[in-house]
Amino acid sequence: MTLRRILIHPDPRLQTRCAPVTDIAAVRRLAEDMLETMYDAPGVGLAAPQVGETVRLFVMDCSPREAPPRPLVLVNPRVTWASEETNTHEEGCLSIPDVYEEVTRPARVRVAWQDLDGGAHEELFEGLWATCAQHEIDHLDGRLFIDHLSPLKRRLITAKMKKLKRMRA
Ligand code: NI
Repeated sequence: MTLRRILIHPDPRLQTRCAPVTDIAAVRRLAEDMLETMYDAPGVGLAAPQVGETVRLFVMDCSPREAPPRPLVLVNPRVTWASEETNTHEEGCLSIPDVYEEVTRPARVRVAWQDLDGGAHEELFEGLWATCAQHEIDHLDGRLFIDHLSPLKRRLITAKMKKLKRMRA
């Protein structure tokens, strides 16, 4: 397994509508690398475009620290149902380091996806799992959590990230 470099916003690959995965065997290695990269960061979710691969795949593990890990790989995920009730969570993103802002989303979502063997799954997520799944699916549509904020806030954060990238370069 290999740690992948996580892209920092702004980057065109983070604003791309990702293509469906058609050959699941071809993304197994990518998924393993993404899980390792996510745990190493550390983070609770990571989408393929964040490591420069614009395909519809993300990994997540929102299990509490004291619980056994539950690494999930979701290929071609889609929301099949969302609750009317909403939840506001403070979100962050590995592609927007050290920025945390409140985002309001449906409190519960049902998500359908394929696993790395092509098997079909559907599960109702709530709490942090629901927030994370929606945040990651947004990534696959080229959307970041800051796109849920006001244009002014978004501009300020983007300017901060450009500066960070210049300093790291
Ligand atoms: Ni993110």
